[in-house]
Amino acid sequence: MTTTKFHPEPYTQALTTKSVSYESPSNIALIKYWGKHGIQIPKNPSISFTLNNCKTTTTLSYEKRSEPGDAYELKVILDGKHKPGFEPKIHQFFGRIEAYLPFIKDYAFTIETSNSFPHSSGIASSASGLSALALCLMEMEREMQPDMTLKHFKQKASFIARLGSGSGCRSLEGPIMVWGEHADVDGSSDVYGVQYPYQIHSVFDHYQDTILLVDKGEKPVSSTVGHNLMHNHAYAASRFDQAVENLSRIIPILQEGDLDGFVALVESEALTLHAMMLTSNPYFILMKPNTLHIIDKIWEYRRETGVPVCFTLDAGANVHVLYPEKDKEAVQGFIKNDLSKYCQDNRYIFDNVGNGAIKL
Ligand code: DP6
Repeated sequence: MTTTKFHPEPYTQALTTKSVSYESPSNIALIKYWGKHGIQIPKNPSISFTLNNCKTTTTLSYEKRSEPGDAYELKVILDGKHKPGFEPKIHQFFGRIEAYLPFIKDYAFTIETSNSFPHSSGIASSASGLSALALCLMEMEREMQPDMTLKHFKQKASFIARLGSGSGCRSLEGPIMVWGEHADVDGSSDVYGVQYPYQIHSVFDHYQDTILLVDKGEKPVSSTVGHNLMHNHAYAASRFDQAVENLSRIIPILQEGDLDGFVALVESEALTLHAMMLTSNPYFILMKPNTLHIIDKIWEYRRETGVPVCFTLDAGANVHVLYPEKDKEAVQGFIKNDLSKYCQDNRYIFDNVGNGAIKL
């Protein structure tokens, strides 16, 4: 995979703006990315729904440095408060992207950011946060290189986001994104996410995702450590093959609106992700007892009502409840009456599939 196309052409225009703002959403994988190599190259392709309500809003302000040094000059402000603790992660991100956006050395940055979801929700903000920041940086580059095509802008923004957060490269557009080269998905790439290019049945329009906040505690294992445990994992090779196969299988499911197939595949992917954690060395469990109670209740409800509601999980205890828009009233009643008691402080977030990032 060539990355040379992301080294910039000489800039033709001076930067005259002083700031840029983007909002970028979170996403939830249907086929999971778990395992990476090199610098943020996935071991298998993944596909996700872009979310609508869970998002990060970022304003990037910049000023030319009088004497650029070796270190980057940046300050992170979260909800109006300076957060030096977040800065090392952005320094590391800048180190990874400098070869592609060399101007970052020449500016002093202030990154003002806020999330639509609560900090203590256990919802990761890295995908939305790093994709929003990547888009702001790309907007600076576009100003200096105005003949950049929209296609290049999108690919490179996703490429840059990936270097900060793997799953973040799937947040830029919607409603469905694919990341990782796959023979059945035209244009797919290991180094950036692409909009899912095929027909999607109308049953998936405005598909609902309610995030049940089961545990807001610190995760015992960061996602980077988790991904790395796929090296030398006894089941890694077959898991990666399975993800490739599942991506082929989801194409007709999405096209035909085959909700039974969707439910079976999505739940199996979620459980497989956690099975990889259960069987790694060292092993770990991110689900909580209430995660399992919720799964059990969803299965019971589906059996009894025939409503095609299903769950998926990310690398944590929270449960994403997925269902068609037409079943919204019934399922939201079920969530309120039967599932909210398993959530910490009865908290959950209604979300639905969205169309990606927006420049403000
Ligand atoms: C379980 O994108 O958070 O949510 O690349 O280290 O930033 P890094 O990891 P991250 O991993 C997400 C893993 C997942 C599955 C998925 O979103 O596909």
